[in-house]
Amino acid sequence: MKVSIIGAGGLVGSCTAFALQTGKVVKEIALLDVNQEMAEGQALDLLHGSPLIADQKIYSGSYEQVSDSDVICITAGLRRKPDESRLDLINRNVALFISILDEVKKVGYKSCAKIVVVSNPVDLLTSLAVKMLDLPSHQVMGLGTQLDTIRFCSLIARQMDVPPTQVSALILGEHGDSMVPIWSSATVAGLPLEKYPGWTNSLANELFTRTKGSGAEVIKKKGGAGFAVGIAIQRVIEAIALNSHAILPVSSWQTGCYGIRDVSLSVPTVVGAKGVINTLEIDLWPKEIQGLRKSASVLEQTFQKISQSV
Ligand code: LAC
Repeated sequence: MKVSIIGAGGLVGSCTAFALQTGKVVKEIALLDVNQEMAEGQALDLLHGSPLIADQKIYSGSYEQVSDSDVICITAGLRRKPDESRLDLINRNVALFISILDEVKKVGYKSCAKIVVVSNPVDLLTSLAVKMLDLPSHQVMGLGTQLDTIRFCSLIARQMDVPPTQVSALILGEHGDSMVPIWSSATVAGLPLEKYPGWTNSLANELFTRTKGSGAEVIKKKGGAGFAVGIAIQRVIEAIALNSHAILPVSSWQTGCYGIRDVSLSVPTVVGAKGVINTLEIDLWPKEIQGLRKSASVLEQTFQKISQSV
């Protein structure tokens, strides 16, 4: 499988390439960036590590690389300032994103290509990609709350002093201020998190608030997230490459799940070789479902504004 990463010179794109390299499930990784020299440097650095990892083809190139790619991962975009919300990025990033999609359309893409959107505001840009590209909507997905979900699990694990891989705690909705913690299904090693010794409501609120602010916290401390985003993306692309039907909180165009439609956001989503295979409407607490609908209405209002200008 061939993956093209647009924006691969930057932190998110290069960490994605590294995660894909070490993940070893894709054969070919093409790194694209407006800053071509940077993309060349990143590709060379990755290439140097290949003898100890796997026999993949890793190189930099132009948009032409997109045309025979199985997955086109778009990470390019401006980063928000620590005190900006992801939605604040709209004005600055929409125009850039549209120009990227125009380039992609110009060179063409496989009819079975999957688009993975990472640039922010991710849910809105995912909708925009659905609208602008001539692809079935199930072939377009955004990273969504996949990243928030792993952040959430990692912070719960550290707090409770349990192995991170044994924490299962989901975040759905918008990858942004209205994200929704799904406490109803949170477990540690299959045991209910709320029954775990030391667990309290105030601790729960504290950990969710910290999770929600994690992107901004990392921007403030190191300029932006890279490693965790790369790992989160790798997990999504791996599900496509292996057709694993993994259930992931990626963002996709909604057509009625939890009563939500005409907007992209994260619900439990089955991901496989065809992209979004299915979305699962598992019964959640009423306030969680309300939270999802609130995310949908926040995103819907903003999407209407931008889609008028497209
Ligand atoms: C973050 C960006 C990638 O949450 O949205 O770090």
